[in-house]
Parts: sequence; C-alpha cells; structure tokens
Amino acid sequence: MTTSPYAPTPELPAPDALARIALEAATDAALLILDRSRSGVAATKSSATDVVTDMDRQAQELLAQTLHAARPEDAFFGEEGGSAAGSSPITWVVDPIDGTVNYVYDIPAYAVSVAAVTGDVHTPGAWRPVAGAVVNPVSGERFWGATGTGAWRQRGRHTAMRMRVSTQADLGLSLIGTGFGYDAEQRARQAGALTAILPRVRDIRRFGSAALDLCHVADGTLDGHYEEGLNPWDMAAGWLLVTEAGGRVENRDGGDPEKAMTIAGGACFSHLAELVRTAP
Ligand code: IPD
Repeated sequence: MTTSPYAPTPELPAPDALARIALEAATDAALLILDRSRSGVAATKSSATDVVTDMDRQAQELLAQTLHAARPEDAFFGEEGGSAAGSSPITWVVDPIDGTVNYVYDIPAYAVSVAAVTGDVHTPGAWRPVAGAVVNPVSGERFWGATGTGAWRQRGRHTAMRMRVSTQADLGLSLIGTGFGYDAEQRARQAGALTAILPRVRDIRRFGSAALDLCHVADGTLDGHYEEGLNPWDMAAGWLLVTEAGGRVENRDGGDPEKAMTIAGGACFSHLAELVRTAP
C-alpha cells in the first residue's frame, strides 16, 4: 500500500457550534458597546471620513479574547488590525462596529459582525464563511447561521425566526440597499453607477452598515444590495446569512463576492446583477 503524501484532512468543527460561539461573542461585544457611553473619533484610516473610535478597539479586543478562549487554535482577522495565525482551518473575521459613522452620530444602525471562515481570507475568491453572527446593540436584533443549518433572526427576547430572502423578482418593484466607500474618487464613480440604477428599481436605501444590509437581504426587508469596496469583515457573516436564507451573493462575474463588487439578492438577484454589470 502506498503511503499518502498528504496530511490527514483536518476535521471541520460542526458549523452550528461555530455559529453559537460567533453569536455569544458578538452579543458580549454588543453589550459592551451598549454599556459604555459613546466614544468619539480616535483616529482616521483610509481618509478623513473613515474613522475609528476607542470603542471599535475595545470591542475588537473583547472579541479577540472571547474567541481565543473558546477556540485557541483558530486564526483571527479583525478590521482594526491585530491578526493572529492559527493551527486549525478556521479564521475568525470580525468587524467590532460595522457602521462606525452611524455609531459616532448616534444613528442606531451599526452592528458587531463575527464570521468563521475557511481558506485564505487575504485572497479574493479563496475563502468562504461557514458560520456567522451579526448583532445590532441598539435594536437588540441578532442574526446568525451556519452552513446547512439555515439563517435565523431574533428580536430582543422574541422567538427566533428562520430567515428567507425576498420573493420579489421584478427589479422595478425591488428595494435595493447600497453603500459608498470613504475614498472621494470611488464615491464619484459610485454616484455615476447610481444614476443608471436608481431609475430601474423601486428605490435605493443607504443605511450605513453593510453587515446589517446583508442581514436585511437575508430576512427579506431589502430585496437586494450591491456595493463596491466591501472588505471581508464587512460581508463575511452577511454573505453566509444571505445564502443560508436562499439568496445569492456574488461579484460582478458570478464569482465569490470581493472588494471590487458584492451583489446580494433574493428573487431579483439576476436582474440586479445584470444591471450592476452594465452600469457605468
Ligand atoms: C462601512 C459600512 C458602510 C459601507 C462601508 C464600510 P465601517 O464599515 O459597512 O455601510 O458602505 O463601505 O466600510 O467602516 O463602518 O466598519
């Protein structure tokens, strides 16, 4: 018998166990964010309007500690820097406050996003979420899911409901979310595309948290969402939730979503993708 040249395939932990860890970690971070008074801008990142607050850093620190305590063998990759290598196939990809500008302005549309992914998260198309959770600290809405076990939403103490994407197939009657980057040149381009898209849909919404937008595609509140410039931490958990809720999340060419473009949707997905593809 020939000896296999390969190492044994590492066992993937049950995805629903990962979803539970993601949900607990995101909930603890949401409680921290809620408990402390709002913190102001601590620094700027890619541009003067791309801000980070002390709370982003504190919440990420808490997420790193909680996830490490639960699964010390996993890698970690957070929006606010501080990545750590691991020895398991899982990387935790976290955004401690997705929608930081809303947080700074006290607009209650921001969320903690936590995803367990496999593959190389630094290479577009080479990674995939297997479980995730998104928690809005102010509304008390929690979203979670794992590969093959569905996507769920719970409002406060109400019973959790299984999410399903919208069945609206007519793009002209579809409510579509989007977002804009922090870079002025990118924004000008996004505004150009918007002039082609806006007349063809019911309306556009820009809530300011891509993680929540994707949750709202998953629960059918939005019929679709498209956005250029999203990073893995903005969309990893939401991507999993939309697909588990029966929808699609892709880039412009039908591949995995990436920074160049993320398109998500329920029944209107193909029409939305075609419109985004052909927009200037
Ligand atoms: C931002 C939000 C926003 C999106 C931006 C993101 P941040 O995340 O998700 O909705 O339009 O592209 O960068 O910076 O608040 O974590």
